[in-house]
Amino acid sequence: MRLETINLEKNYGFKTALKETNITFEKNGIYGLLGPNGAGKSTLMKIICDIIKPSFGEILFENDNKKGRKELKKILGYLPQDFGLLDELSGYEFLEYLSVLKGIKKSVYKKRINDLLVYMNIFNVRNKPLISYSGGMKQRIGIIQSLLNNPKILILDEPTVGLDPSERNNFKNLLSEISSERIIILSTHIVSDIENIADDIIMMDEGSIIKEDNYSNFIKSIKGKIWKKQIKKEDEKERSIIEDNYIIIQEVNRGDFLEFRIISNNEVKDAEKISDITLEDAYFYYVKSKSKIFKFMRND
Ligand SMILES: Nc1ncnc2c1ncn2[C@@H]1O[C@H](COP(=O)(O)OP(=O)(O)OP(=O)(O)O)[C@@H](O)[C@H]1O
Ligand SMILES: [Mg+2]
Repeated sequence: MRLETINLEKNYGFKTALKETNITFEKNGIYGLLGPNGAGKSTLMKIICDIIKPSFGEILFENDNKKGRKELKKILGYLPQDFGLLDELSGYEFLEYLSVLKGIKKSVYKKRINDLLVYMNIFNVRNKPLISYSGGMKQRIGIIQSLLNNPKILILDEPTVGLDPSERNNFKNLLSEISSERIIILSTHIVSDIENIADDIIMMDEGSIIKEDNYSNFIKSIKGKIWKKQIKKEDEKERSIIEDNYIIIQEVNRGDFLEFRIISNNEVKDAEKISDITLEDAYFYYVKSKSKIFKFMRND
């Protein structure tokens, strides 16, 4: 399978939500789309799913635009970020309704819905009205509906919102399990959602793709740039030196001391170079550092 975006761009009036975006999805597995609020993640996903039209550019599926789009629709599963439910239906009825809309046979959807309800731990509430569901339960219904047609390409826009830690884990396992035979594109701004499961990570900010690579290359690319530095709590001078000169990833209380995890391309005085680098460090390095530099420029 080959899904490609060619010079995609989306403008809302004077606002550019997506800038000349070129990505190719062709390997089965999980593509993690990581970016802060307003980065353009949902816009990109909506264009791929044909919910909105791009201002420029096109989508190719199997190297074709027109016929490809039709084919793509048949094999696509999509969980929108703001997923609306029909509150008066029960969980099961709602999923049945969507299965019928998607043209799935009863003999197929009945078993699939029940299996997924069990897997997602909401089988016992399947006959209760959706209005009585918690946020996390509703989200799980959304995830199930995206899988009803056993899609070959699955697009999930912030699927873990509202899930508690154990459900998050459960969901990560499910994705991992099903990713060997399909392309999954998952957007989030929570790094841990895709850590250990995404084969490819796409970092976005302000409508652009900043960097796309696999996990280990992301980690390698910032080796030697993450530092740990402790200062006395009352040392305001040291504190402002750190705040003014480095990007702070984390600040932890350690008794009389404050410990900073910071980014620096150069040696930091009285600091320890960190060797166990995380994807979150990389996210700060490529995405968050940009806004800090911007802040410096504004202050000047
Ligand atoms: N219908 C619209 N009209 C005007 N501006 C829009 C519209 N939809 C999105 N935008 C703007 O486009 C930019 C990208 O939005 P988008 O929803 O794609 O970001 P996102 O990465 O999904 O963010 P979030 O993490 O908050 O979901 C934002 O600045 C947003 O305000
Ligand atoms: Mg979004």
